[in-house]
Amino acid sequence: MFDEINNKLLNNIVKTNKNKSSYWKEHLRDNADFQNPYSHLGFGSYTKKNIKNYIHNLLARVIFGNNVFKTKMYYAYKSVFDKINRFIDVDTIRHIFTFEKLKEHVNPKSICVIGDGKINGILGAHLAFPNAKIYSVNLSETLINDNMILEKIDINLKKSVTLITDLNFPTKDKILTLIPSNLKKILLNKNIELFINIVSFQEMAPDEVKEYFEIIKNNKSKLYCCNRQYKKLPGGEELYFEKYPFSNSKKIFWEDCPWHQKFYSLKPPFIHNYGGNIRHCLVDFL
Ligand SMILES: C[S@@+](CC[C@H](N)C(=O)[O-])C[C@H]1O[C@@H](n2cnc3c(N)ncnc32)[C@H](O)[C@@H]1O
Repeated sequence: MFDEINNKLLNNIVKTNKNKSSYWKEHLRDNADFQNPYSHLGFGSYTKKNIKNYIHNLLARVIFGNNVFKTKMYYAYKSVFDKINRFIDVDTIRHIFTFEKLKEHVNPKSICVIGDGKINGILGAHLAFPNAKIYSVNLSETLINDNMILEKIDINLKKSVTLITDLNFPTKDKILTLIPSNLKKILLNKNIELFINIVSFQEMAPDEVKEYFEIIKNNKSKLYCCNRQYKKLPGGEELYFEKYPFSNSKKIFWEDCPWHQKFYSLKPPFIHNYGGNIRHCLVDFL
């Protein structure tokens, strides 16, 4: 099943290329190693367990404190990652904080993750809301990479996957539906209760962001949006958090994102600021 999905996605790359901003045209070029689950192409990392993990742990505790390592979401991710020798690194920790916070505000029956990476978003959505139907919309290459990681894990989410291949495709009663970005309109009128976008609108072409907001509004959904306050892409596209088309939505929270201000790497000076302030909000399009 996974090979069949990936073969279809490989043939679909030419179609999702049209949804790439200048940033993604650079990061996902023809020779990008997207068929390697461990590759680092700008959509998150997959850190294998190894001898250096104690340094990651130390740096993570300096930035985030100890409490995140005692949360339910931390243990939920850990139980899945331990079986595939995957370490909970900074990219997963950002998602742990996110789902801990979302659980305080929502209990959706259907969720769409726009622009996930290394399955951190879809896995967190499934672990936090086990009864929810999940949609993941992304570029074909990232969906292939996610799908290869999904194949390794042993949870219900992986046992029930479907790939949308055209706009008339019936959205079956599968737990997880993968949607290449060229077919995003299939998400219209689906009664999706929560959309999640974590640091990915900030790297899309503004018209692409607009299309996603139209879909979110059409679903009368809630949106969790966590993105750079301002980002300029290599081709000159400019993205402003406050200028996304939030009009007619009700704010549930809206603030600087506490866990998206610093990250660590194993290179000096070890602790770094992201390239600009990151805001996050939960809004309701009612
Ligand atoms: C910086 S990564 C963020 C990954 C993940 N959300 C995280 O926080 O680690 C941005 C994501 O947006 C995706 N993306 C880029 N253009 C897209 C588009 N037009 N539609 C959907 N996803 C897109 C990329 O493939 C990538 O997965």
